[in-house]
Amino acid sequence: MRAPNTSRDPNHQPSRLHELSPEEQAAYAQLDPTRIPQHVAIIMDGNGRWAGKRALKRFLGHQQGAESVQFVVETASRIDLPFLTLYAFSIENNLRRPKSEVSFLMKLLKSYLIGNVQRMNDNNVRMAYIGRTHDLPQEVQDTMQWASESTAKNTGTTLTLALNYGARSEIVDAVRSILTNLTTEAHTRGCSVEDLLGAGALDSLDESDISRNLYTAHMPDPDLIIRTSGEQRISNFLLWQIAYAEFLVTDRLWPDFRGLHLLESIAEFQRRDRRFGGLNDTPTDEKIDTLEPADQVAAEISDRLAPQPTPTLSRR
Ligand code: FPP
Repeated sequence: MRAPNTSRDPNHQPSRLHELSPEEQAAYAQLDPTRIPQHVAIIMDGNGRWAGKRALKRFLGHQQGAESVQFVVETASRIDLPFLTLYAFSIENNLRRPKSEVSFLMKLLKSYLIGNVQRMNDNNVRMAYIGRTHDLPQEVQDTMQWASESTAKNTGTTLTLALNYGARSEIVDAVRSILTNLTTEAHTRGCSVEDLLGAGALDSLDESDISRNLYTAHMPDPDLIIRTSGEQRISNFLLWQIAYAEFLVTDRLWPDFRGLHLLESIAEFQRRDRRFGGLNDTPTDEKIDTLEPADQVAAEISDRLAPQPTPTLSRR
C-alpha cells in the first residue's frame, strides 16, 4: 500500500484518473486511494471457452484475450498501479498444448508487442518478463527485448508478462543461482564451498535470499491475485510470492475482462481483512486488564471438554 503522490515527489506524474471511462471513474470513486495494491497478478483463463461459446476457433479466443490485456493495462496505468503481472504462457502450456496453438500464441505475442509498444509509451508503461524466456523462439525473444528496451525509461506501471513460466522451475532456478553464487564466492575468496558452509553460509541463508534470487526480485510480492473463468487453482503461478496475497476468482472469462473488472476486484481486495498470520483486533493493554485471567478461562474450557457421563436410557 502507498500514500498518494505528492507534488514534491520528483517522479510525480500528473493524475490520469480523468482518462478512465465514466463507469471506471464511478468504480474508482468507491476505492480508498491510499490502499491501492502495489502489485496485482492475474491468471488469464477462459480464452478457449469464450471462443467455444461462440462456435469460434480457440485461436480467436486468444486474440480477443490479447485485446483484454491492453484494456486492463491501460486502466492499471491510469490508476497508477505500480506492478501488474499477467500469466500469459506457462511452461506446461508450452509442453502440453498442440504445436499449432503454441505457435499461434508466439505469433500473437510478437504482434501484440509490435502493435502496442507505442501505446505502452503513451501510457508510461514499462515492459518486463519472467520465466524461462531463453527457451522461446529467438525471433520472439528479439521482439521481447526490443519492447522492453523501447519502454525501459517509462516510470508508470510495470507490466510483467509471465512467459514460459512455472513457479517450481523458478524456485529451481533460484536454488541454482544461490549455489552458483556460493561457488563463485568460494572461488573469489580462494577457499572451498565446504569452507564457506563450515563458516556458517548455510545457517545465514534465509527467506530473503530465496526472494532475491527469484525472477521477481525487483518487485514487491503481489497483494492481489485474480483468476478468471471460475477455476479455483493456482496452476504453478508465483507460488513463493503469493504466500499472503488475497486470491479472487471471477467467473468472467478473460476475453470479457476489462479495466472496470480490475477496479471491482480492487474494491473486493479493499474489503478483505489482511492479517498476515497476525490479529488485526489485538486487544490493547487496557482491554487485556479487563479480560478474565487465562488460568480461569483454561479451567472453564477443560471442564467443558471433560467427558460427560453417558445418559442411561430408561427401559420400557
Ligand atoms: C488460458 O486460456 C490462456 C492462455 C493459455 C494464454 C493467455 C494468452 C492470452 C491472454 C493472449 C495473449 C497474451 C498476450 C500478452 C499477447 P485457455 O486457452 O486455457 O482457455 P480455456 O481454459 O477456456 O480453454
